[in-house]
Order: sequence, then C-alpha cells, then structure tokens
Amino acid sequence: MFDRFLRACRREATDVTPVWFMRQAGRYMAEYRALREKRTLLEICKTPELALEVTLQPLRLGVDAAILFADILLPLEPMGAPFSFEKGEGPVIHAPVRDRADIDRMRVFEPEEGLGYVLEAIRLIRRELDGKTPLIGFAGAPFTMASYLVEGGKSSDYFRTKQLMWGDPASFSLLMGKISEVVRRYLHAQIEAGAQAIQLFDSWIGALSPEDYRTHVAPHVKNILQSVETTGVPVIHFGTNTSTLLEAQRTAGGTVIGVDWRMPLGEAWKRIGYDRAIQGNLDPLLLCAPREVAAARARAVLAEAAGRPGHIFNLGHGIVPQTPVDNVKALVDVIHEYRHEGAA
Ligand code: CP3
Repeated sequence: MFDRFLRACRREATDVTPVWFMRQAGRYMAEYRALREKRTLLEICKTPELALEVTLQPLRLGVDAAILFADILLPLEPMGAPFSFEKGEGPVIHAPVRDRADIDRMRVFEPEEGLGYVLEAIRLIRRELDGKTPLIGFAGAPFTMASYLVEGGKSSDYFRTKQLMWGDPASFSLLMGKISEVVRRYLHAQIEAGAQAIQLFDSWIGALSPEDYRTHVAPHVKNILQSVETTGVPVIHFGTNTSTLLEAQRTAGGTVIGVDWRMPLGEAWKRIGYDRAIQGNLDPLLLCAPREVAAARARAVLAEAAGRPGHIFNLGHGIVPQTPVDNVKALVDVIHEYRHEGAA
C-alpha cells in the first residue's frame, strides 16, 4: 500500500505496520552481487541508471518504502576530500582532514554541481516507482561524516575526531558547520528532485557522552533538521547506541526517531515522547537466526509499539551481507500479517 510508510511517519493510523530495511539493497542479494562483479560501488552510485536498478532490487521482498541507492560519504568528494572503498577495509579518505588549514580548504558546494548524479537518480527512481512505493532520500549527519573525514576511514574509538573536538573546538565547529550546510542544501535538493522522506544517519553518535553530544553536535543537527522540516517532508533521525542520548536527539529534531536494538522499543518511545514517530528496532543478526526465532522477536518488537500509530518497523542497523534473502522476505510477511490485540 503506497502511503502506509508516509502515514506512519505522520503518526496516522495504518492497516498494518510499515516495514523497510536499512541496507535493503546490498551484498546479501544475488542480483546486487552480480552487478558488483562488473562495477564498483562508486560507479553504481554515479550512474543514475544503475542506482535506479539497485534501488528497485529489494522491492520484490514486499517492503513499504524504497531507499535511494547512494552512500553517506558521496558529498566528501565535492567538498574536496576524495575517497575510495577498499576491499575488506571499507572507505579510505585519501587525505584526511586534521587541522585548521585542511578544514579551511573544505568547500561548501551546490548539490546540482557536485552531486547532480544523485539528484538525477532520484528523478529516474520517482518516474519508475510511479507513485506505487514512496522513496526515501538520505544523508549522513555531521558527526558521523566528520568522523570518516578526520579518521581517514572507519574507527573504533574516534581518537582523532575527539582530539580535534576537545583540542580545537573552534576548528571542529567550523568543520561541523561546513558539513551541515552541505547536508542541508543536499537534502533540500533531494526533496526538490522527488524524495518523499529523508533519513539522517548519525550512526556513530553513540560514541559521545550526552554532554559532548549536546555541546558539539546537537546544534548542527538541529540546524539541518529545522531547515529540512520546513518542507513538510518527514525526517527520520537515526543513531545507534543512543540509550543515553534519546532526549537530546529528540530535542535536536526529527519527525521520526530511529533506534537500535539495545533498548526495548516501548521504553525508547516513552522517553522520546509519543509526539514523535519511532523506527526500529530488530537486531539485524536475527535475520541470520532460525526463522521462528526471528519471527518471535519481531512480534515482540511490534507488541512493544502497542498498536500506537507512528511505528515504522526496521532493523536497529543495516542488513549484514551474510543474510539469507528468503529470511528477509519471511520477516516482511511476519510484519504484514501481525495484528495488534484489540485491532479490527
Ligand atoms: O539500501 C540502502 O540502505 C541504501 C544504500 C546505502 C549505502 N550506504 C550503500 C552501501 C546507505 C543508506 C548507506 C549509508 C552509509 N554508508 C552509512 C550509514 C548507515 C550505517 O551503516 O550506519 C555509513 C556509515 C556508510 C559508509 C560506508 N559505506 C561504509 C562504512 C561502508 C563499508 C562497510 C561495508 O559494509 O562494506 C560502505 C559501503 C557500502 N555502502 C555498501 C553499500 C551497499 C557495501 C556494499 C558494497 O561494497 O558493494
């Protein structure tokens, strides 16, 4: 049903709980792996026809939304920090951003110039979906993007990012401000191109204390969210490991708050407040567990939402490559077959 997902974002009643998955397009799907044998990840992202093809691949599983195929790191290149995806290593930023001079060189660009290929992909996808499935656009939030820029790739402790944040807060704030302005313009451009909802990925904020989040990160996130929400397009504000940050995250904004599996969904929603919708929160590894185990745990997540309008079912983080595709299809069916007690 077309508007199940968008209605839930607005906390309107739906026939059943809508479901989509982070990383619903990716290596767990044979058709994606087949394309990846011929093309690199960046080639797929930069070729609108291929981004369209991959975006549509998971729709056969019955999900209630499509998510644009792209990557949160794409804006780094037009900002002046090219990168590549290295096998087994993940993203590698060729010249990490470490001091004031590096930050001064970072450019705030116009999305149509720097990321025109993403906007073109959105226009193609919307045409192809033809109003049957809503399209989610997305971007990385400033802290999560800054962590890749400063560390030069993935990190377990964010050592250099925190050194910059505490050691030179003015420069850190300048960097966060530049990324925020890039992301703000990029999200507005995605909406103009046709994105019907937006997810802001702040995947790594769980590394921060509530005080550091509030001081160094939340004001930037708030600037982006307040600006994007003036369009009326719903925004999902997602993070992981956020059990100590939920209130601050809610204050920073978001129509929907995305939570991971480390906290029961009901408890998270109560703390976020019922004036926001919530997205989550099955452990993605349950998709590699016996199906009846995953189904029972998925029903437990649905029960946590207690039939309140405004729940979008998702995993607490992305689908892992080892996931059997049939398990994903089976989970979608479990969600769509579930009825809340007392519901008609
Ligand atoms: O289906 C979708 O969810 C849309 C596509 C999408 C990708 N990346 C494609 C991709 C989305 C929404 C992202 C977001 C993204 N990218 C995040 C935030 C979400 C999260 O996981 O927390 C982050 C941190 C990145 C950066 C990134 N991209 C990393 C760290 C990696 C390497 C890790 C890995 O899984 O190999 C990527 C690669 C990447 N981006 C893949 C996909 C499908 C891996 C598949 C491939 O190499 O072909």
